[in-house]
Amino acid sequence: MKGITFSRRAALLGAAAFPMIRVVKGQPKPKNIVISSANGVAACGKAMEVVKSGGDTLDAAIAGVNIVELDPNDTSVGYGGLPNEDGVVELDASCMHGPTRRGGSVGAIRGIKTPSKIAQLVMAETDHMMLVGEGALRFAKDYGFPEEDLLTERSRLAWRMWKREMRDKNGHSNWESGVDGPPKAKKMAELQRVFPQFDEETLAWAYEVATNPPHGTINCIALNEKGEMSAVTTTSGLAWKIAGRCGDSPIIGGGLWLDQDVGGAGSTGRGEENLRVCGAHTCVENMKHGMPPKEAALDVLKRVARNFDNDPQRLGEVDLNFYVLRKDGEYCGASLWNKRSANSQRGAAFAVCQSQGESHREDSVYLLERK
Ligand code: GLY
Repeated sequence: MKGITFSRRAALLGAAAFPMIRVVKGQPKPKNIVISSANGVAACGKAMEVVKSGGDTLDAAIAGVNIVELDPNDTSVGYGGLPNEDGVVELDASCMHGPTRRGGSVGAIRGIKTPSKIAQLVMAETDHMMLVGEGALRFAKDYGFPEEDLLTERSRLAWRMWKREMRDKNGHSNWESGVDGPPKAKKMAELQRVFPQFDEETLAWAYEVATNPPHGTINCIALNEKGEMSAVTTTSGLAWKIAGRCGDSPIIGGGLWLDQDVGGAGSTGRGEENLRVCGAHTCVENMKHGMPPKEAALDVLKRVARNFDNDPQRLGEVDLNFYVLRKDGEYCGASLWNKRSANSQRGAAFAVCQSQGESHREDSVYLLERK
């Protein structure tokens, strides 16, 4: 066998000729990588800093989403989030820590700017998995978190606008002057008269969210070079919801799931539709059974479409997105629609940060296309 390379000789003789050599398929080395929803470019960057400095993956993901929770200009998460129908901000969050296979969550918590930290405390410091409402707030206060007003001038404006735009079939609203009032001006001029302290752009935004309630959220999943993974989802939920409504974000298995042996998934968008397919869990199970991340997430979105008999008109009301990170570093964002509405300028996207390079957005795959 002179002149034949070692591997060729092994192939000719078969593995039995070399009992000490096991033929193992090459496994890629785990890498540092963080993904999140599109509003998480800064969050991914922060989480990557923590991962690179050797911090725990859950601490990293939570440090990342804290930026967005504390940002008064993100009206879908934490402080400044759009409130419930009573004008009170209620937040949901959940987290999962891969190495210990533990999780925790809070639902409909009021007065706390960073609900992701409370979800982590529920996980780490209690024998429970989920605390809600008044009990969750008391628990947070016991740990020294201050109770604060989470409504900003911007989110209060949007809430007042929503009440104003609640009209009967004759176009009447209790929240504007009636027949005895001055004649109606054009919409924007009228809004400028009622809300003189806000500029046109802010009023147009408030009018849009008042009449088309959004469900923004942030999900973030972190993987490190040791192959450890963790994930968090945090939100102010559906704008103008009934007090006490919880979406998918605090539901472990719904808005978040992570299996340290497989990978993690999280979601943003209409929580009710995600819960009807147990989306994040289904996504990770799909990967466990061999589907790559894109296929795993698109399969979940197909189940959502199936719940609407694949009727594009009814599905047009639904906005739903998944973020998936497999244990080997393969990742994707996947959305039901290519863009949120026919008028949207931006397509479906998510944020990602790797060890080398800046945190940035990438395009998501999608199931359905709006022209
Ligand atoms: N996915 C966020 C919510 O529905 O509340």
